[in-house]
Amino acid sequence: MKLNIAVLPGDGIGPEIVAQALEVSKTICEKFGHELTYQEALVGAIAIEKVGNPYPQETHDLCMQSDAVLFGAIGHPKFDNNPSAKVRPEQGLLKMRKDLGLYANIRPVMTFPQLLDKSPLRRDLVEGADFMCIRELTGGMYFGRPQGRSEDGNTAYDTCVYTREEIERILHLAYKYAGQRRKKLTVVDKANVIATSRLWRQIAQEIAPQYPDIETEFMFVDNAAMRIIQYPKSFDVLVTENLFGDILTDEASVITGSLGMLPSASVGIHTSVFEPIHGSYPQAAGMDIANPLATILSAALMFEYAFGLMDEGKAIRDAVTASMEAGVVTEDIANGGKAYKTSEVGKWIVDYLKK
Ligand SMILES: NC(=O)c1ccc[n+]([C@@H]2O[C@H](COP(=O)([O-])OP(=O)(O)OC[C@H]3O[C@@H](n4cnc5c(N)ncnc54)[C@H](O)[C@@H]3O)[C@@H](O)[C@H]2O)c1
Repeated sequence: MKLNIAVLPGDGIGPEIVAQALEVSKTICEKFGHELTYQEALVGAIAIEKVGNPYPQETHDLCMQSDAVLFGAIGHPKFDNNPSAKVRPEQGLLKMRKDLGLYANIRPVMTFPQLLDKSPLRRDLVEGADFMCIRELTGGMYFGRPQGRSEDGNTAYDTCVYTREEIERILHLAYKYAGQRRKKLTVVDKANVIATSRLWRQIAQEIAPQYPDIETEFMFVDNAAMRIIQYPKSFDVLVTENLFGDILTDEASVITGSLGMLPSASVGIHTSVFEPIHGSYPQAAGMDIANPLATILSAALMFEYAFGLMDEGKAIRDAVTASMEAGVVTEDIANGGKAYKTSEVGKWIVDYLKK
């Protein structure tokens, strides 16, 4: 099979972790007889620095022509510490999501036996937790307009907007995934207070009868925030709007034990994007210490979701598990043991796959 991917390393640790995921992808392609072609492009703060635009047109064109996008992370302290900067790296990420029509972000939440004691939650609560968060990605408050400040600068406002079409398409996607898993869908909203949430709940109630074999559960977001921590094993597929999903998925990452372990897939109308859930971790940039596993596991999702290559995805996942079993891990999950470099972990996984 011919696989043509766009590679967008971005900022901070992005280039280091993406390099490892790319080497793993090349190795998998050699092993399974696929032909991988790839091209790199600019995104984020580095793109602002080089061409003045966090998501340049050339990057978008490349993404549109590719079968999948492997993405690192964006963000730089220069912008984080300057709230009045007019052009920001995050605008590039939002524009990419909007222009590629990436309306769903899929984040598997799972545990690894070696990390059970790394989670701040008790082992008996998290052991065996295995669910999928589906976050709506192109609507809600992050995109609603008007957004801004009053003239005197002392009042600020955001607008949360959702249309029927946006809600229906993500709910159908969520039911599809629930159907492939344990057949339970939790729809998370704040329908007791927020108008857009009431529309979400109404539409979910309309759609639910089309999926009689799937149990639909409704949950307010505040309750969901508690239950993710108290009963993570009670979830199978959870679907929610953009802002709630942003927060709940980071909360859910503590179940796994490190932000550096969690992959994601953003799917939609055009090319899908595969990226770790963490940011650009600027403190570690260039130090070769960041955990590359979230990005390598994102490459596994890429083989599965973008190319339907399930064995290839599983081979990557198995190699990641093997590296953890062998204790070849970065400092964030070393648990007092030897901490390996980003590149050493990547190389170990590549060598393992070659065996
Ligand atoms: N999708 C994205 O590109 C994305 C997402 C979130 C934040 N950001 C941006 O990233 C920058 C930094 O944000 P932040 O510090 O809030 O979040 P972050 O995810 O970059 O880092 C938070 C903490 O998580 C840990 N961590 C994250 N990735 C890790 C890895 N691969 N290995 C080991 N530990 C890891 C580190 O302890 C780090 O201090 C900001 O500019 C922010 O806007 C980008």
